[in-house]
Amino acid sequence: MMPYPRVEKEFTFRLNGEEVRVRAPPGYTLLEVLRHILHLTGTKDGCSSGDCGACTVLLDGRAVHSCLTLISQVEGREVTTVEAVDEKVAEAYARHGAVQCGYCTPGFVVATASLLSKITNPSDGEIREWLRGNLCRCTGYVKILKAVESLAGDGV
Ligand code: FES
Ligand code: FES
Repeated sequence: MMPYPRVEKEFTFRLNGEEVRVRAPPGYTLLEVLRHILHLTGTKDGCSSGDCGACTVLLDGRAVHSCLTLISQVEGREVTTVEAVDEKVAEAYARHGAVQCGYCTPGFVVATASLLSKITNPSDGEIREWLRGNLCRCTGYVKILKAVESLAGDGV
């Protein structure tokens, strides 16, 4: 039997400040395109189902799960991945010992940048609420909260 032809389309969007064009099946997620076609592997695949936040990227400045975002939804829009997020955020995570396995961290870093772009001086409750969609299986979140708190007022 002949295999089904692999239907691909071209998509154009801005990625970390530069215009990119990719050919991909329209059913591919943004996460699949980032990791498997563009080889931008900072964005992690933790669950592929919107539960863990490891795949968080900014879409037009808003944090989204790239595993739930189809590449066709990204056409003409602006994507920012952990590779382009302000280094201050990653440095704060490192300084406060909030990086452990490194798997969940990119998602936390992107979500933190998103939080601080909206609320420059978040309260503890606002930080917890904002990071609710990001899971870490190996810490009590204390160091992560400390890292985010250390950036409050910095206007990341
Ligand atoms: S990989 Fe997207 S939420 Fe887990
Ligand atoms: S440090 Fe990544 S899952 Fe805990």
